[in-house]
Amino acid sequence: MESFEFNKIAGAVLATALVVFGLKELSAAIYHSETPEKPGYAIEVAEAGATGEAQAATGPAVSLGTLLASADPAKGASGAKACAACHDFTKGGPNKTGPGLWDVVERGIAAHEGFAYSDGMKARSAEKWTYENLDAFLKDPKTATPKTKMVYAGVKRDQARADIIAYLASLSDAPKPFPAP
Ligand code: HEC
Repeated sequence: MESFEFNKIAGAVLATALVVFGLKELSAAIYHSETPEKPGYAIEVAEAGATGEAQAATGPAVSLGTLLASADPAKGASGAKACAACHDFTKGGPNKTGPGLWDVVERGIAAHEGFAYSDGMKARSAEKWTYENLDAFLKDPKTATPKTKMVYAGVKRDQARADIIAYLASLSDAPKPFPAP
C-alpha cells in the first residue's frame, strides 16, 4: 500500500498548491490597482500678492479706475514675482513659457512676436489688452479666455490685482492713462 500512501500525499500537496495559487489570483483580482498612464503632479502656483487674508467679497464693488488710482506699482512688482516664472518683463525680453510682457497694456491680444499662443488666445486677437481685459484675465484666466494655456489660478484680491496691473502699466516708454475712477 506504499504507492497508495504516496498518491494520497501527492494529491494533498497538489490540492494545497492549487488553493495557494487560487488565493493569489483572487487577491490580485481584488487588490488590483490601476497605474495611471501618465504619472503627474499638479503644480500649484502661489497666488500673487496674497498674504493670506481673504478677499472682502461682501463689500460693494469698487471700479477698476478707483482701484488703479490707489494702486501701488511697487507692491505689484513684488506680486508679479509669481508671474516671472513664466514671463519676462524687460523691453525686448524673450518669450518664456509665456510671452514677454513689456508694454502689454493696449497691446493686441496674442500679438507678441514669436510666441505660439493657444487657439483660445488667438480667437481674441481682434481685441486689445485694455485695463479691463487685463483685469478680467488676471482674475480668472480660464473664464476670461477659455482654452488658454496660461496655467495660473488668477489673482483673486482686487487690490493685489490692480497693483500688478499698475506695475505692468509702468513697463512702457509711454504708460497708458488709467481709466477714470
Ligand atoms: C505657469 C506659467 C504662467 C504664469 C505663472 C503666468 N502666466 Fe501669463 N501666460 C502664460 C502663458 C503660457 C500664456 C499664453 C496663453 C495662451 O496662449 O493661451 C500667458 C499669457 C499671458 C498674457 C497675455 C499676453 C499676450 O501677449 O496676449 C498676459 C497679459 C499674462 N499672461 C499675464 C500674466 C501675469 C500678470 C501673471 C502673474 C500674475 C501671469 N501671467 C502668470 C503663462 C503663465
